[in-house]
Amino acid sequence: MMFPIRLEQVAFRPDGRRVLDNLDLTLSGEGISIVLGPNGVGKTVLLKMIAGLQAVTEGRLLWGDNGHPVERIAMVFQQPMILRSTVLDNAALGLRPLGLSRRACEARAREMLERVGLNHRAGHSARLLSGGEKQRLALARAWAVQPRLLLLDEPTANLDPSAVEAVETIVRGIRTDGAKVLMTTHNLGQATRLADDIVFLADGRVQEHAPARQFFARPESPAARHFIQAELPWRIRFDE
Ligand SMILES: Nc1ncnc2c1ncn2[C@@H]1O[C@H](COP(=O)(O)OP(=O)(O)O)[C@@H](O)[C@H]1O
Ligand SMILES: [Mg+2]
Repeated sequence: MMFPIRLEQVAFRPDGRRVLDNLDLTLSGEGISIVLGPNGVGKTVLLKMIAGLQAVTEGRLLWGDNGHPVERIAMVFQQPMILRSTVLDNAALGLRPLGLSRRACEARAREMLERVGLNHRAGHSARLLSGGEKQRLALARAWAVQPRLLLLDEPTANLDPSAVEAVETIVRGIRTDGAKVLMTTHNLGQATRLADDIVFLADGRVQEHAPARQFFARPESPAARHFIQAELPWRIRFDE
């Protein structure tokens, strides 16, 4: 079991600049956790550390009981990585390394394309897909490997509302299939729709980690109240 994931006193100081500092966070293996916080606060760095794409040089990142990530992790970025090949090949990308036969890979990839509504495009060039379709393809590729942990870095930035809704439905499906989801977003509506819990980063550390409902109804820190007020398209006052 690789949960809980624990970050203890994690710091990230590129060129002496204090980005993350004394960051403590514990993540359970259930539900959808959404990381919120101002631009440049270190949300992407945090996800990359958990994905193993950014070394933890200060502090500790611990996985469950034995200290190592022993189950599958998948990550999808804001700009989906798309190979110059067919939609089907792209969906199958993570499967060959798992030792499946070519036929089994194709069958599974087709099943995933069906789930994300792209099966009719299987033979088309993936480069020609729209932004929303590319993101659904990236999610199909991640879903195909049946990850225990899915990391999503602003997966719906720059997508129109119907594409956003499609991505949210897929994310819920992956969660229901047994993945823990850790994602970032700038879309507070999305955070209220998807999140079980909110991790609010500001000033280099976790300022609040609370159930989503509680976070949005009664944010504890002034930084969180200010962040929510600034991000919402309407005015809101919190009882002090
Ligand atoms: N590999 C790196 N080397 C140096 N600085 C980095 C590196 N990765 C991120 N940063 C810096 O860390 C800060 C946080 O970045 P990021 O995690 O992308 O913020 P955000 O919360 O917007 O996702 C930024 O100032 C960024 O320039
Ligand atoms: Mg980012």
